[in-house]
Amino acid sequence: MQIDISSLKTIFNPRLRPLIGVDIGSTSVRMVELVDAGKGASRVERYVIEPLPRQAVVDGNIVALEVVADALKRCWSKLGTSTRNVALALPTASVITKKITLPANLREQDLEIQVESEANQYLPFALDEVNLDFQIIGPSPNGTDEVEVLLAASRKEKVEDRVAIAEMAGLIPVVIDIEAYAIQAAYELVVKQLPQGGQGQIIALIDIGAAVTKVTFMKDEQQLYLREQAFGGVQLTDDIMRVYGLSPEAAESMKCSGTPPENYAEEILHPFVASVAGEVARALQFFFTSTPHNEVHHIILAGGSVLIPGVVESVAQHTGINTLLADPFAGMAISPRIRAKQLAIDAPSLLVACGLALRKFD
Ligand SMILES: Nc1ncnc2c1ncn2[C@@H]1O[C@H](COP(=O)(O)OP(=O)(O)OP(=O)(O)O)[C@@H](O)[C@H]1O
Ligand SMILES: [Mg+2]
Repeated sequence: MQIDISSLKTIFNPRLRPLIGVDIGSTSVRMVELVDAGKGASRVERYVIEPLPRQAVVDGNIVALEVVADALKRCWSKLGTSTRNVALALPTASVITKKITLPANLREQDLEIQVESEANQYLPFALDEVNLDFQIIGPSPNGTDEVEVLLAASRKEKVEDRVAIAEMAGLIPVVIDIEAYAIQAAYELVVKQLPQGGQGQIIALIDIGAAVTKVTFMKDEQQLYLREQAFGGVQLTDDIMRVYGLSPEAAESMKCSGTPPENYAEEILHPFVASVAGEVARALQFFFTSTPHNEVHHIILAGGSVLIPGVVESVAQHTGINTLLADPFAGMAISPRIRAKQLAIDAPSLLVACGLALRKFD
């Protein structure tokens, strides 16, 4: 029998609870387990990507609960861990966040009452329909006896769906995060790829998934701007289906590994790749016009669609900005049970799962 020493560590360091980061995307569920490798470093211990059938998750909504729960169960068995604690994320668009200021030194109970009454004022639905959470950020910049509090509210069913599928899969949801925060947490990992950790520079972290492209502009630990665009790799799959009359599965397989017909590159792939660069340029334009900033120093690309041949080069060429692939495992040790070559291919699509897995160190 193999003894998992990583789980013993948490007994000696009670701040670290074992936890798996679980990203539920529209094409697959992904699990990542990070462990403490000592001296503040972490090691990627295990990960699994388990495909989902089409339409089981749409726009971050879990449509087919049982189907997704089954995928979670399979994913967890393949992971081969003893940890059942999981961190999940809510889609960013389904959560309303707001910063408020409250008097400092409120007792916990009074703070809760104040938060609820503030939330009541601006939420577009009744309080009993939402999950409300808050966190004191720190002293308010404009008053010494006030604190800034971040509110987050999400419709109950969004949270309940995630809790339900985790439990159906035999897992214990201990953290329900917001996807944008998970991406922001993973940003700490990917900037290690840049010289001087990208200090003082503006970085666009762009996750090109199947259906949605999520763009986060960061400077040091600060998030400057966030946007989501309805664009992703499924558009290429749809093109292939349409042109060659293929099923979604056959189109997906041609796209990812198959031997495409002769006219494919020129007539389908190249126009799609150009449209990726166009989407990125559009996101940059929104950033420039909506903020005082007028430059971006690096573009870091994440998500499964970065594996489409030519995407990185096309974005770099079109924008004239240094463009690289996200590697959330940069500077991390890798467990001997993981194949480094495969991890390098999968890494960009594990951004969200990694950000969630980091919650174990919080
Ligand atoms: N080897 C590959 N070559 C080309 N495309 C690929 C490859 N692997 C994955 N993709 C594409 O990446 C996309 C999936 O990306 P990702 O896994 O980041 O999405 P997701 O998180 O499931 O979806 P979303 O975030 O949009 O809900 C799909 O369109 C898929 O076809
Ligand atoms: Mg995704």
